[in-house]
This record gives sequence, structure tokens and C-alpha cells, in this order.
Amino acid sequence: MSTITGNSKKLILIIGATGAQGIAVINKLLAPGEDGSPSPYSVRALTRNPEHARAKDLASRGVEIAQGRFDDFKAVAAALQGVYGAFVNTDSFTVSEEKEVWSGIRIFELAKQAGVKHYVWSSLEYVSKLTNYNPEYRCLHYDGKGRVADFMQAQPSVVSDSGMTWSTITSGPYMDMLNIYTFGPIKRRADGTFVFATPVGKGHVPMIALSDFGHFARYTFDNRALTSGKDLKIGSDWVGWDYLVSTFIKVTGQKAEVVNQSLDDWFDNYEGVDQPVSNEGTGAEHVSWKTNFTGWWSMYRDDVIKRDWEWIRKVNPNGYTLETWMRANNYGEGSGQMLLKNIEDGHRVTLNQARIAQL
Ligand SMILES: NC(=O)c1ccc[n+]([C@@H]2O[C@H](COP(=O)([O-])OP(=O)(O)OC[C@H]3O[C@@H](n4cnc5c(N)ncnc54)[C@H](OP(=O)(O)O)[C@@H]3O)[C@@H](O)[C@H]2O)c1
Repeated sequence: MSTITGNSKKLILIIGATGAQGIAVINKLLAPGEDGSPSPYSVRALTRNPEHARAKDLASRGVEIAQGRFDDFKAVAAALQGVYGAFVNTDSFTVSEEKEVWSGIRIFELAKQAGVKHYVWSSLEYVSKLTNYNPEYRCLHYDGKGRVADFMQAQPSVVSDSGMTWSTITSGPYMDMLNIYTFGPIKRRADGTFVFATPVGKGHVPMIALSDFGHFARYTFDNRALTSGKDLKIGSDWVGWDYLVSTFIKVTGQKAEVVNQSLDDWFDNYEGVDQPVSNEGTGAEHVSWKTNFTGWWSMYRDDVIKRDWEWIRKVNPNGYTLETWMRANNYGEGSGQMLLKNIEDGHRVTLNQARIAQL
């Protein structure tokens, strides 16, 4: 099976291409090398809707568009034909955990059959396994992706003209979510003070700036042998909320404070928290947005997730810190962009204004 496109570039299929993460990865894959040489990659994007503005924008940048769902394996098999690499970010907030796990396993097998050379799975920690299956930390979008990564660990990773290499990239929450209420200020008081409400306590979130995510994805494809069979645990900065607010004050010169809340109080800031965590239903456990993100906040509150910052800085020496990211994004000047397609498409919880007024 050919793996090289007509213009000799390595074709990479991106699943989740129109999403916040996919766009960041595509930006780096198509960027010239550090020496200014043209990118060795071209991109094919799988999308359910080629007519969506995000898909059209990718097409206008020379990205080939393939129509289909990642859980429609005929469509995926067709999209995998002739590709050198695949970057696969299935969306846990669309499909159930069961469907995500099965899709992750089956797409890997289809990639093998299609003759893909380098298969990259976008993962998150298998937090249940990491915590001895403690239900307090149960989080569907982490467990689902982590289980698939565990399955991949049991598969050979081959660096040859005929074999398939696999790598996993284990990330965490996007630093860019500082532009939405999850991490950003939930309100500004009449006296000008920005309020950062959080249930994270003294814990930390290893936030990853989306452009740094793109860097690590490009690094993985650029270094096939080095990243073969490896799990790259990535991040940009290790963010606790006192550090977040002191950095915010330093960068913006504005007044700000942390409001520490219990998990129940934090969820009371929102309406609609009992909706299923995935748009198409949550599968056998019927997990709500609140239950899922209770586990999510708990794992960061208790610092369950670790990172090797020395390795991260070595591989990405020009990566962001919280401060450089805020400065580069003119943070605090209303830069809030809606990066998550799912939210842009209308799947969201809303603010409980009566409650916010009291903060
Ligand atoms: N938010 C975070 O901080 C964060 C951090 C790390 C990992 N993640 C993970 O990233 C995933 C979401 O990706 P995102 O952050 O880029 O969100 P997003 O901006 O909402 O994008 C969702 C993407 O998934 C695609 N998609 C959804 N259902 C699909 C299906 N059935 N078939 C094919 N494509 C489908 C969408 O494509 P079309 O609509 O074009 O079909 C879109 O490209 C989640 O699984 C989440 O766990 C999120």
C-alpha cells in the first residue's frame, strides 16, 4: 500500500480534525520546519459535516476532507487508505464510553490493515486503574481513552517499511480553557475584582496550551523511532489556583481573587449539570456531566496526575508557561474565543446567574 502522496508528503489522517485539539495539531503539522523548510506532511480530515465552517476553513488551507463518523468503520477504513500516519482523537463528549473504547480498539486494527506507518492515539490517564479503581476519581473521558492506550501497550510497535509504529500522547486540560468558565474568571465584581471560583483546593492541573499540544504531536511524527511504543505525557504548566490568580494579577494589573468552593457548590454555579456527559447518551452507567466532572476535579484536587517537567521542557524548550501564555494571548482583555466545537455547536451547561451574583 502506498504511503506517500503525489507530492511526496506524508499524508496524516486526523480524527477530530475540526476540534480544538485537531486544529492545533494540523497547524503544527502543516507549519514549515524550524529551518524554514516546507512541511513534510499533508493532512486528511475526517468530519461528520464537510459543510461546517471549520471543515471548509481546513479545506481552504489544502486539507483533504473525508466525510464520516469515527464509529462508522467503513468510513474510517476508507479514510485510512493511502495514509502514512493517523492522529486519532475520538470525542468522549459525543459518543458513550463504550463506543469510544470499541472505536479506539477497532480503528487501531483498521490502521494496521490499511498499512499505516505511524499511529498516534490521543489519550488521557486511565484514572480508575491509576487509583486502584477508587470510584471517587471515576471519569469517563479519561478511563475510556486510557483503556485504549492500555490495549495498545499490548500490541507490537514496529519501525519498518512494512510495520506499524504506535505512540500515545497523554494530555490534560487545555490551558486555552482559561478562556471559558472552567478555569477562567466566572464573574467580575462591581469593584473590578475578577473571581476565579474552583473546587480544586490546593491541587494542580497540568494544563496544556493547544499550540504546545500541536508541538508534541509534530514531534511524535518527526521522531518515529524515538517515540515508538511510547506514552508521551505532556503539559505546559503545573497550575494551582493561587499561582493562577497571582500570575493573572501580575500580567493584567487587575484585582482578582480565588473563591474556593466544595464540589457541590461549584456545580451549583451552573444550570444543566444533570444532563448526560455525552451528547449521544452515556451508555450503561448513565453518568451525568456533574458526576463525570466530580471525578475529574477530584483527581486534580488530590494531585493524582503527575508530569515529568524536566522531560517536557527538554522536548519543548519554547513551550508556554502560564505567564507567557497569558501575555501571548493578551489574557484579561476579553480574548475569550470558543475553541471547543462541541460547545460552539450548542452542547453546554449554562451559568446559574442567581448563584453567581452571590460570589
Ligand atoms: N477540553 C480539554 O481540555 C481536553 C483536553 C484533552 C483531551 N480532550 C479530549 O478531546 C476530545 C474532544 O476533542 P476537542 O477537545 O478537540 O473538542 P471539540 O473542539 O468539541 O471537537 C470535537 C471533535 O470531535 C469530532 N467528532 C465528534 N464526534 C464524532 C464522530 N462520531 N465521528 C467523527 N468525528 C467526531 C468533531 O468533528 P465533526 O463535528 O467535524 O464531525 C470535532 O472535530 C474529548 O474526547 C476530550 O476528552 C479534551
